[in-house]
Amino acid sequence: MKKKVLIGFEIGTGEKVFLTPDHLLVTGVTQYSGKTTCLESLIQRLGVKAVAFRTKLGEKSFIQGTIIPPFFKDKSDWQFIQSLLEATLGEKLKGWDRSKIIQLSKGTNSLLGFKKKVDERLNEKLNNFERDILTNLQAYLEIVLPKLQSINFSNELELVDGLNIIDLERFSRDVEVQSLIIRSVIEEVFYKYKDTIVILPEAPKFLPQKRGNPCKLVVEQFIREGATDNKLLWIDSQDLASTDKTPLKQISTWCLGYQSEINEVKHTISQIPLPPSKKPKPNDIMTLKLGEMYVCTRDFVKKVYVMPFWLDENKAKKIALGKLKVSELDAPETITPFKVAMKQPEKVTEKPSIDFSETTKRFNKELNEMRTDFFNKLQEVQEQFTKVYSDIFEIKNQPKEEINEDTIIAKVLQKIPVTQVTQEVKPSVTNKEEIIKEVLARVPSGGMKVYQVAPLEKLKKDFLEEAKKKILADISTLSDNAKKTLKYLETRGVGCSVNELAMKCFLYPSGAGGYSKIVNESIAELKVILVGYKHSNGKSHGKLKDRIKELIQVHGAKDEEIEQVYNHILMELLGGKND
Ligand SMILES: Nc1ncnc2c1ncn2[C@@H]1O[C@H](COP(=O)(O)OP(=O)(O)O)[C@@H](O)[C@H]1O
Ligand SMILES: [Mg+2]
Repeated sequence: MKKKVLIGFEIGTGEKVFLTPDHLLVTGVTQYSGKTTCLESLIQRLGVKAVAFRTKLGEKSFIQGTIIPPFFKDKSDWQFIQSLLEATLGEKLKGWDRSKIIQLSKGTNSLLGFKKKVDERLNEKLNNFERDILTNLQAYLEIVLPKLQSINFSNELELVDGLNIIDLERFSRDVEVQSLIIRSVIEEVFYKYKDTIVILPEAPKFLPQKRGNPCKLVVEQFIREGATDNKLLWIDSQDLASTDKTPLKQISTWCLGYQSEINEVKHTISQIPLPPSKKPKPNDIMTLKLGEMYVCTRDFVKKVYVMPFWLDENKAKKIALGKLKVSELDAPETITPFKVAMKQPEKVTEKPSIDFSETTKRFNKELNEMRTDFFNKLQEVQEQFTKVYSDIFEIKNQPKEEINEDTIIAKVLQKIPVTQVTQEVKPSVTNKEEIIKEVLARVPSGGMKVYQVAPLEKLKKDFLEEAKKKILADISTLSDNAKKTLKYLETRGVGCSVNELAMKCFLYPSGAGGYSKIVNESIAELKVILVGYKHSNGKSHGKLKDRIKELIQVHGAKDEEIEQVYNHILMELLGGKND
């Protein structure tokens, strides 16, 4: 790192003012003092690595640099946990609490792991004191962890040359999350880098006086030990109200820009580690113009016009000497790095010149509004996602249950709004009848007819069914000869002599002896089950249909049903071994 860096020109004398790079602080009312421009210009002229954070929504920030992803290293060592706890409790931990934290943080290597231990511990019997502390810690982790899980962090902090910018605007409402990330970056720079400047914004927020903050310890260590390796902390803060004094005491270079509030001015001045006679007076600070600062170091206190990186030395000096006004410069605006130009002096040309400055201002105003709107939307989306992540977190952190991936995925899917699948499933059959048929075809019915009936109907049908079964059962007891006889008689439909049955049914040769016995026995069998009989005239008749009628007609069987059963039995006979 260079030994000296030009900050600007002394007001009145126009002499160059140099700084020896050290820990530095710049204050002043935002937009009216030029803090960010001052820091950015110093960094450019030093040509060093630096890292800055954007923490405020829509605030003008550094205009040249490289945006890098946020870096966060998950940890659970007790010092870290202690700083978290102090941040939430707003007070320093006592020895006894600390030993509890040390115990709990043993064997865990992430905040999530630590949270699990806290949860478990809270299920045990505890005294009120410990319960209070752990409940606090639990609540804090429940807020912070899901948010941290929603950020795409890089595992490595890789700083490029020049200014690195970490954008934390979308967490502008989450001091906790911003603090954890800033803390993580500062610590990493401390362990990994040399010749690097960390720019900490909003001192009262990240280095609060009465409360804890995860940044505090790390910042103290960074300031105490960093300078030997040219690791410097530069604070960019509108005010120092209720900022922790410990780190401020270690800062040797103070750049005080315009401030309007007398008490804040007095307060700021009182913090400068210089003898009172050397310090500027409140009125000095309250009359500063944009770009003017009181630069207080161990070696000097000077009122300086800070030279922006986009301005040449010649003009800067002129301003310090009062020969040129800042308002006459067309300063670059935040988003578009304009080429810096002097406004056309009015007298030089008669031609009407177009004044772009108004347009530029309007354009920038609109752009800023759009930006704010965009970030608000982003925040909303962020919050929605945070809900999903909260769920994931809950699942991950359920105490005993084994979690499988499917459960998590299902949970997440439930939370994600899905666009409706509107395509209808068209059935391949179009009318009702067909659908019913289709359905019936698939119902296993065992070949039985399906009746749809009322109770009384049902009883009738049962009797009918039973009668049918009875006939079928009877038929099945017949010998093959009897079945054959029945078939013949039914086919003939008229009375048949024993002789005819012998010759035409049993195909015995004409005049063969002993056949009548078989025929008569068969007819006797039919008679037993009432499906055939021998008339007194010697002719035999089949009376299967009559028997069916007899049995099932009382139960209200219709003719067609009788016919059905009849055919069924005939089929049964046909299926017999006797064919
Ligand atoms: N030294 C300077 N000379 C001229 N214009 C300046 C100077 N410092 C800041 N400005 C302009 O003033 C505005 C606010 O500056 P900025 O550095 O963002 O202030 P802060 O960080 O204190 O809010 C910007 O438009 C910037 O270009
Ligand atoms: Mg600023």
